[in-house]
Amino acid sequence: MITQKEYAKRRRKVAKKLPENSITILLSATQKQRSNDTEFPYRQNSNFYYLSGFKEDDSALVIHKGKKSTHCYLFVAKKEPAKELWSGKRLGVEKAKALFSFDDVFEYTQLQEKLTAFSEGISALFYDFKVEDARLAPLKEGLKSVRSYNNIAPVIEALRLVKSAAEVQLIKEALLITKEAHHRAMQVSKELRYEYELQAELEYVFKRRGAYSDAYTSIVACGNSANTLHYIANDRKLLKNRLILIDAGCEYKYYASDITRTIPSRGYFTKAQKELYELVLRVNKEIIKMIRPKVLRSKLQSRSEELLCKGMLELGILHGNFQELMDEKLFKKYYPHGIGHWMGLDVHDEAPYKDDEGNEIPLKAGMVLTIEPGIYLDESDKSIPKKYRGIGIRIEDDILVTSTGYENLSVDIVKEIKDIESLASL
Ligand code: GLY
Ligand code: MN
Ligand code: MN
Repeated sequence: MITQKEYAKRRRKVAKKLPENSITILLSATQKQRSNDTEFPYRQNSNFYYLSGFKEDDSALVIHKGKKSTHCYLFVAKKEPAKELWSGKRLGVEKAKALFSFDDVFEYTQLQEKLTAFSEGISALFYDFKVEDARLAPLKEGLKSVRSYNNIAPVIEALRLVKSAAEVQLIKEALLITKEAHHRAMQVSKELRYEYELQAELEYVFKRRGAYSDAYTSIVACGNSANTLHYIANDRKLLKNRLILIDAGCEYKYYASDITRTIPSRGYFTKAQKELYELVLRVNKEIIKMIRPKVLRSKLQSRSEELLCKGMLELGILHGNFQELMDEKLFKKYYPHGIGHWMGLDVHDEAPYKDDEGNEIPLKAGMVLTIEPGIYLDESDKSIPKKYRGIGIRIEDDILVTSTGYENLSVDIVKEIKDIESLASL
């Protein structure tokens, strides 16, 4: 659990980076209408949530940094019984004051008036450029003395890069649920007929275990479907003796998990499938082993490219000279994506990859990243051995960088061929 103390500490860290005589406004996410009276499920904006832990819409966070002191305020929706009848109870000002450690809490309707009251001598306004919308224009209008508009997002996102112990704990909890979902998928796939049935089995576990939702739309891709990287239709048949690439992870208490496993549709890998799978697995494990503070992600990327390129050359998927294939990046046809990305409140966590000078940020204890090598061999590609056509494999784990190396947070989600086969044969 993230305590109020931790949220307050994050706000202090942000405030430290702000100039004197500045106001920072972070607005909650808005409700997104689906049609007529129906809305998409609401989820708080991650940067706002990171600094507040507040889940309701119609809310805002304000940091007022004056010459001598800094104050943080929360603005929350008014308690209105007629509205609450339809869309649920609101916390309201009094309860928010008791439960959240802000200097003061006001009604959201007071935002404009309070900003005007704080505005004396204020010259800089900070807000999240990604959530710039109609709500901001009148607020900006009211802050007459402001000379500069600045993006607060990079300040918050730089903090989000290194996770606290409480954040890592939540990711671990998300992964316990995701583990159960993937293991269930391994056990039941042979009994099912369509990709969406398998998707339902995974998401059943997410929901039953209290996860808010998936952290991204699940990919359940049988056979050649896996060669569409963002395949989310999940509407094709689970054919016999194919591989199924499952990229699915729940979001739990606002924290993501992001796991890919590739499993046989009928319980056992064929010989050709094993050859490819073992290559991807070897690369997944070797790259994970490289993780420790000070290592550059680009090193993990280039090493994964070398290993996959060499492996594909040995299997007769690529032809020619290794160095030429590397120099001309010909392996990209079959391994076109990155080795991984930051993960946290968002699956592709909004955290920087480069510092202010444009240099790559090296790994540091507390960072969480995915490692996800893959090979994608389209069924229509006549240049590769027939036995490999129509196979797509990715193996993705979530890794915490520690002071001495790494901790594989998803180590318990099986990925060895014998372990997948033994779950599938239960
Ligand atoms: N599930 C999205 C990704 O692996 O990046
Ligand atoms: Mn990923
Ligand atoms: Mn993924």
